[in-house]
Amino acid sequence: MARDITLLWALRSVCKFTCGYCYFGTIAAHRAQVPTAPGTLSHLRRDDLTREEIFAFARSLDGSPVARVVIAGGEPLDWPHILDLIATVKAVGCQVVIATNGVPLTKPIVASRLVELGVDAVSVSLDSTDAAANDELRPALGGYAAHSDVLCGIRTLIDARGEAAAPRVGIYSVISRRTLDQIGAMAELAVELGCDYYVPQPVSLSPDHALDEELTPYGHEVDRIAAGLTNLHTAGLPLALPDTHYTRLFIASITDRTPRRVEDCFGGAQLFFAQPNGSLWDCPSDLRIAATPPDRHRSIKGADARTLFADRPACTDCALLGRDCVSMFPLVRSLPQMLHLTEVR
Ligand SMILES: C[S@@+](CC[C@H](N)C(=O)[O-])C[C@H]1O[C@@H](n2cnc3c(N)ncnc32)[C@H](O)[C@@H]1O
Repeated sequence: MARDITLLWALRSVCKFTCGYCYFGTIAAHRAQVPTAPGTLSHLRRDDLTREEIFAFARSLDGSPVARVVIAGGEPLDWPHILDLIATVKAVGCQVVIATNGVPLTKPIVASRLVELGVDAVSVSLDSTDAAANDELRPALGGYAAHSDVLCGIRTLIDARGEAAAPRVGIYSVISRRTLDQIGAMAELAVELGCDYYVPQPVSLSPDHALDEELTPYGHEVDRIAAGLTNLHTAGLPLALPDTHYTRLFIASITDRTPRRVEDCFGGAQLFFAQPNGSLWDCPSDLRIAATPPDRHRSIKGADARTLFADRPACTDCALLGRDCVSMFPLVRSLPQMLHLTEVR
């Protein structure tokens, strides 16, 4: 059995940042009405799996086709049992990638434990080299954390790693109208900090989102982003980057909103997405989730990964490629190669 699945697993743990563009929505908006539609994320839903259910599923990854678990949230490093969960997932032979806002890494004990546990990669979100611009896009609750804390978190983790090979450390940036000229500068900052990789990702907002007009690039701005992405590849920085196929998908996805066909889509084949309540989807794309027939609504709750993923196609034929799933390409295709994360037992 091929061990080739990447599982993106979102835990609900309130993130201290309140990014207006966040896929999880904002607490302020959801206080009025918590969304309950299948697939909708929220920091405020209260239907999470229990700790026991989460660990039972994690143990069942042993001998399953899941090769890599990307733990996100919310803020996964603020989830109370995160270190035990990482230990469990590593113990069953899966690679672990953490997607974090970076602030928990400022605690040396957290950074050292991630190194000791053998976490394979840590992706830290940061949108701009300009502290004020970043903190406006990614404001912290009560202003308690900021750009400087994220930089400190990255430095603390890289110090804790010392001469060890893992975890690889990278920066993920959301490219929006506000940050479209930041691609090169963010890559240089990543090098300066000693990071191993950099991934720019397109902002993904629905046309009715309150920030769509303010953040979604259009017209000549798309050309500036395309130039930034191309220059990134020619700059020769000592940094792993997603390949030029990703650049093409990125640009295509921001050129217009029409969903595109991807003939060899990995969603539902080598990629699955688990939500805090256990819902399991082929991909985090809202279009794909909305198009999932009720008889394909599945859950990791009470499930065994060895049987849950046993029956899957080699690839799926999807006509719903949008901005939110473009960001999955680095996770599934680029990251394992660029970080040499391809060997699993
Ligand atoms: C939802 S966060 C969860 C992990 C962690 N709290 C963090 O801040 O990285 C995962 C990644 O998704 C990105 N993200 C969230 N909403 C997005 C959107 N609407 N468009 C593009 N990227 C988004 C974040 O910037 C971050 O890099």
